[in-house]
Amino acid sequence: MTDVTTEVTTAGDFSEETVARAKEIIARYPHSRSALLPMLHLVQSEEGYVSPRGVAFCAETLGLTKAQVGAVATFYTMYKRRPAGDWLVSVCTNTMCGVLGGDRAFEALSEYLGVKHNETTEDGAITLEHAECLAACDYGPVMTVNYEYFDQMDAGKALDVVRRLTDGERPAPSRGARLCTFKEMSLQLAGWDDDRKGALADGPAAEPTLAGNRLAAAHGISVAGFDPTTPIASPQASDPIGQQPSAPVAETELAAEAGPGDEQPYGEGSARAAADGSGPEGFQIKGNENSFLYHAPESPHYARTKPEIWFRTAADAEAAGFTSWNAPAEARAEAKARAKEWKQGKGGGR
Ligand code: FES
Repeated sequence: MTDVTTEVTTAGDFSEETVARAKEIIARYPHSRSALLPMLHLVQSEEGYVSPRGVAFCAETLGLTKAQVGAVATFYTMYKRRPAGDWLVSVCTNTMCGVLGGDRAFEALSEYLGVKHNETTEDGAITLEHAECLAACDYGPVMTVNYEYFDQMDAGKALDVVRRLTDGERPAPSRGARLCTFKEMSLQLAGWDDDRKGALADGPAAEPTLAGNRLAAAHGISVAGFDPTTPIASPQASDPIGQQPSAPVAETELAAEAGPGDEQPYGEGSARAAADGSGPEGFQIKGNENSFLYHAPESPHYARTKPEIWFRTAADAEAAGFTSWNAPAEARAEAKARAKEWKQGKGGGR
């Protein structure tokens, strides 16, 4: 197997093409540091892993420290810390696939290739790894090669795929795009299309995915009131299991409880939201009917379980009666004390 590199950790020496691509990636983001993830894929497209000089390259290019880059690169398993082979073979050994044969498939490949988890064959062709759930349990046991799926594997089928790879072939995945090498795939993850003819492919859902639907149909099971063309409705107040209000509401429960004439220390700025969560003229309501938080930024009454209204301007807030908005410190303190009193009286709280 290949070993951990001991390269000098300085930037530079990347190809002109990679440097140009780095600039292109950075230009996609308002802040250069946001480009780190695709930059790391870009490094892998040239180096075959996140090399020390790749870390330095990212750090210098993005204005980060090497420690910051390293922290990200070592967090995600898709960033390799050792040179990866041309073919990254990932066998799902999570519970579902493991009991269906994924464990045996991994062992067979490990024995055949002479490598263990996260190791690469001497010729640099294949890296083998255990993988956690690859999000294709219905096709388990699954294995991926450079993240393309090979479904319903067993030890024999997995060995066949790997033998073909070592013979220089590119076996067709069960679905999705055609195989490309680890470096080619990394370039795609950095944001460049695979322009090979027929490289992009996708197929319809197959039997394992549809099996549950078919069983449900055969037994007359369906989701009550499900209409695939409309969003799922909010729970109704009358719904015995729904505790949410039945209509989009931005009026606070506090406002309702207070009643006309009651003084509310944070003002009387109640508003009714439209169904899409937008508010009336002059208001900007954050969230939706399930997550409103009702307060002015300087409101003494601030609780995440309450509806929220943000004002575009102080004048809007004042017009709505949010007296604590931009109020002098003394007035704010007084309002805060009254809010506390009011909350205690109403049994309110955060
Ligand atoms: S457990 Fe293997 S894909 Fe989910």
